[in-house]
Amino acid sequence: MKNDTILKACRREKTPYTPVWCMRQAGRYMEEYRKIRENYSFIEMCKNPEIACEVTLQPIKKIPLDAAIIFADILLPLEGMGIDFYFGKNEGPVIKNPVRTAHDVDKIRVIEPESDVPYLLKAIKLVKKELNDKIPLIGFSGAPFTLASYMIEGGHSRDYLKTKTMMYTDPKSWHKMMDKLAEIIIRYLSAQVKSGVDLIQLFDSWIGCMSVNDYTEFVLPYSQKIFKAVKKLNVPSIHFGTGTSHLLELMKKAGGDVIGIDWRINLDEAWDRLGKDTAIQGNLDPTVLFAKPAEIKRKVKEILDYTNNQPGHIFNLGHGILQETPVENVILLANTVHEYSKRK
Ligand code: CP3
Repeated sequence: MKNDTILKACRREKTPYTPVWCMRQAGRYMEEYRKIRENYSFIEMCKNPEIACEVTLQPIKKIPLDAAIIFADILLPLEGMGIDFYFGKNEGPVIKNPVRTAHDVDKIRVIEPESDVPYLLKAIKLVKKELNDKIPLIGFSGAPFTLASYMIEGGHSRDYLKTKTMMYTDPKSWHKMMDKLAEIIIRYLSAQVKSGVDLIQLFDSWIGCMSVNDYTEFVLPYSQKIFKAVKKLNVPSIHFGTGTSHLLELMKKAGGDVIGIDWRINLDEAWDRLGKDTAIQGNLDPTVLFAKPAEIKRKVKEILDYTNNQPGHIFNLGHGILQETPVENVILLANTVHEYSKRK
């Protein structure tokens, strides 16, 4: 691997500079993406390996990023589970047959990635060939809680009412569902690693809504099971969530070589809490990329200063890049991270 700075940072080894990538780096803020999107739906793009490969490479051709992330979505495995969904116009994902009862949980099919998401595995192989070991390729999955929340709510939710109601009123079904999802996610990630991804990220984007005790009882065992299985795949792993200031120690316990944090907590405080035996990823507020160049630079340097030059930091946004983000500011971000963190 010519540029393995991210892999080294995951192992908390010294790197010549701090590596950087952006969650959702392939997407609508790039005109190259929007051009293809004029002719295909988002799901059609995901299911076409040549297009998925091209879109994965778009940001890294333009922006000096230290990793590519495979163009896909956390909801792709739902189809194989027997859960139908679509992306409505500007309304996010809509699940047609949400999971609400014990019977619904029983019906969830444990997927076979080779036959259920063949397009994803083919796209990974294409990207790996194109990258030619220049930079690593990140594979990913939604975490059990975040996937369960979409499957139960039927889409995005503000209060996770139906999800938590199942947890509290029918814990047997909840645990069964989470156990099935853990098995599905292990298969899904294993197939991605077998197809060539160099590291993986588990997105528990909405986990911040859980209390400490509920996380411990209803989530921890399942995320832990996944990271235990991923360890055997011999690739580094990133465990990401938002609004997780109260859950950091528990997320570390669940697993992951790297813990991803958002901007709601300062990086130095998060790292103190996690301990220096854990690498950290984050945590610029994505809206900072709408500021003037001098302010963007100041905010980037602020985060880098919080690391105290400690190895084991991957620079990223605290959550996905926003659609209206000017591309030139993402280029500025990557260059600033590289220049300011350069170590002699
Ligand atoms: O990071 C990357 O560039 C890889 C691609 C990627 C996408 N989704 C592409 C996408 C990744 C890693 C994801 C993860 C994902 N998907 C998450 C976890 C990360 C996060 O943001 O919290 C979640 C919750 C989803 C589910 C999802 N997909 C939603 C809620 C939406 C609609 C909201 C939105 O941003 O439009 C999507 C659609 C989606 N996923 C798009 C892309 C590029 C937009 C599709 C389009 O209209 O062109």
